[in-house]
Amino acid sequence: MKKKRRRIRKEFIITVISALVIIGLIVGLIIYFNKDQLVFNYTDNNEVNIFDEVYNTDFITKIENGNILTEKERIDTSLLGTIEVKLRVEDNHKKEHEYKITIIVVDKEDPVITYEKEISTEAGTKIDLLKGVSATDNSKEDIEVTVEGEYDFNKEGEYKLFYVAKDSSGNVKKEEFTLKVTKKKEEPKKETTPTNQVDKTFTTSKGFKGEVKNGITYIDGFMIVNKTYSVPKSMYPFDPVKCNNNQVLNSTTCNAAKQMMAAAKEDGINLYIASGFRSYATQNSLWTGRKNSNGIEFADSGTARPGHSEHHTGLGFDMCGGGDGCITSAYANTPGAKWMAKNAYKFGLILRYPNGKTNETGYKYESWHFRYVGKELAEKLYNNGDWITLENYFGITSKYSD
Ligand code: DAL
Ligand code: ZN
Repeated sequence: MKKKRRRIRKEFIITVISALVIIGLIVGLIIYFNKDQLVFNYTDNNEVNIFDEVYNTDFITKIENGNILTEKERIDTSLLGTIEVKLRVEDNHKKEHEYKITIIVVDKEDPVITYEKEISTEAGTKIDLLKGVSATDNSKEDIEVTVEGEYDFNKEGEYKLFYVAKDSSGNVKKEEFTLKVTKKKEEPKKETTPTNQVDKTFTTSKGFKGEVKNGITYIDGFMIVNKTYSVPKSMYPFDPVKCNNNQVLNSTTCNAAKQMMAAAKEDGINLYIASGFRSYATQNSLWTGRKNSNGIEFADSGTARPGHSEHHTGLGFDMCGGGDGCITSAYANTPGAKWMAKNAYKFGLILRYPNGKTNETGYKYESWHFRYVGKELAEKLYNNGDWITLENYFGITSKYSD
């Protein structure tokens, strides 16, 4: 009996010890494994703003018993949407683990509108309200701006309107501006001839009154064009008409030219207009051509620079016929040239560049170039055949400023 009890006791002790050993082993194993357990915590579904500076490792909140294998790298956040970032981690047992982190690129900022707070126009004149208006956004996308509100370009008033800009993420910016539609101004009366605005007045060395109107110089009421005085580039003859030989002239000048031609014809001389109005461009190519082939001095001695020619005004013209050599020095000896030199003044025309007066006019003798001044002045300048120049008569120069 005693023996049996002892055996039972022994068995019990062995069982208890075995159980303790097993429990100890289990606890030991648990402790062992838990001690080395990799801890890797991170935030998922992270929202970041477009173009934000974000790195792949920014979302890790905790790492224990392991190393990150993936290198730190900037994430491209230039596009809206979802990005999946993979991170590789090694635990203390050299085992690799891969984690996926989701990043959502969003745009939470409103576009920025550049605009004017107040725009005005006069009633009846439409303007583009979006002219000069632009919108930029952090998303760097093209943002369209629209106008919101009611307005009427034909009705006077102050309209409170909005510029509206919306980006593709739905961020909307509204900016208020005022459109002022003002009373329509009276149309200024249109003048058929240029306005009589006087830009400048002066007195010549011989006491004549000079005036510059709309860029054109008049001395004692006569339009003056020479090397000193120019006309505006865009000038066109006043009261222009197509005259003889399809040449454009001022109508009074054309009448005088035609009367002279008719009178010459009676004397058996057939005159014609070789050159009438010449625009700035035409004169420019003439002068430039001569300058390029013969030099500036030669060009300036016989051809006006653009803007300085009487041909530009429609008051000066070249007339030939009644002999050969039109517009050459040889023409001076022809019956046609001789007839005009003697008779032109009777029609209000002057020989503009007479022989031996280069110092005054700035040009060589031109037996073919006439200018309308009216009979009164023409007769004075004819001076019984010893032509007085406009420069001498008025006491003015003919010299380029450069
Ligand atoms: N031949 C004259 C000067 C002119 O060109 O206007
Ligand atoms: Zn000429």
